[in-house]
Amino acid sequence: MFFLIAMETSFETILQQSLQSLETIKTLEEVEVLYASLFGKKGTISLLLQQVKDLTPDQKPIRGKQINDLKSQLLSAFNQKRSAFIAQDTVVIKDVFDSSLPGVSPILGHFHPNSLIMKRVKTIFSSLGFLHAEGPEVESDWYNFEVLNMPKTHPARDTQDTFYLTGNQLLRTQTSAVQVRVMEKQKPPVRIYSIGKVFRRDYDLTHTPMFHQVEGLVVDTAISLTDLKGVMTYMMKALFGPDTKIRLRPHHFPYTEPSVEQDISCPFCRGDGCRVCKQTGWIELGGAGMVHPQVLRNVGYDPEKVSGFAFGFGIDRVAMIKYSIPDLRLLFENDWRFLQQF
Ligand code: DAH
Repeated sequence: MFFLIAMETSFETILQQSLQSLETIKTLEEVEVLYASLFGKKGTISLLLQQVKDLTPDQKPIRGKQINDLKSQLLSAFNQKRSAFIAQDTVVIKDVFDSSLPGVSPILGHFHPNSLIMKRVKTIFSSLGFLHAEGPEVESDWYNFEVLNMPKTHPARDTQDTFYLTGNQLLRTQTSAVQVRVMEKQKPPVRIYSIGKVFRRDYDLTHTPMFHQVEGLVVDTAISLTDLKGVMTYMMKALFGPDTKIRLRPHHFPYTEPSVEQDISCPFCRGDGCRVCKQTGWIELGGAGMVHPQVLRNVGYDPEKVSGFAFGFGIDRVAMIKYSIPDLRLLFENDWRFLQQF
């Protein structure tokens, strides 16, 4: 009805009809359709304006003012209607997915520091040609102690406060228990590592009832302590950085002869002495030695023909040193604030 507007058409009619239509409108889209029919290129207002040029000079300003008045009344009605719809919609908009907002990233899982060290240690062992061997966590007294040269009365048993299950069954106190299981099944050459949980009745800043160890074993002809030192040096450089040095000190383990304890140069002060290494420049890491001839005999090997070295160290201890973790117990409390740092 708005398209053919004669000059005579009453401005009041246009205004009233438009306002009525606007009143009944239900959506913002309909408001815009009506707006286009009035103010669009071919809309009523545009047509009225076009017709002005054909008027006489004295008619022109009168008609111009009439159109402008109509325009401004209509525009203010439209603005009111639009604002009403927008105000209504803002309530709804809350529930609408807004693809322009920044996303909420999901919380990602983290590897436990022990898992990180174990992954690294496994990679290093594999690169040196060691095969992985597994043993049970519930172990017999035989494999954990007896066959490793620690009979029932041996004082070395006291250093490993053991969780006994029955007279002969216990929770393994060391991954060394896996050594004999492997050698019983396999003739030399042997080159294996074992990694996993071990258990001792201990609980303080540097001890927990469950912790993790890794064990390496090599048996072949003409294996000597220098082979042990070579492997250990390679492994510690790979774990703690290329500047790392190792030092072997005489020690005693019933299943190795000679036995040594292994220190690494302090990765914090590079050997100068600091709080972590108690000013010594060295940090104690684990035990090692040449497999005791009696242990070789126990598994049917001939110590005259073959020799071997073995070593073991704590995974948790490596994690503590590498990540400067002051209390071992932090590794087992599963505190998210701690774990998410790795
Ligand atoms: N089993 C020892 C411990 O738990 C570590 C160890 C020492 C492992 C000497 C070995 C070894 O294989 O030869 O402290």
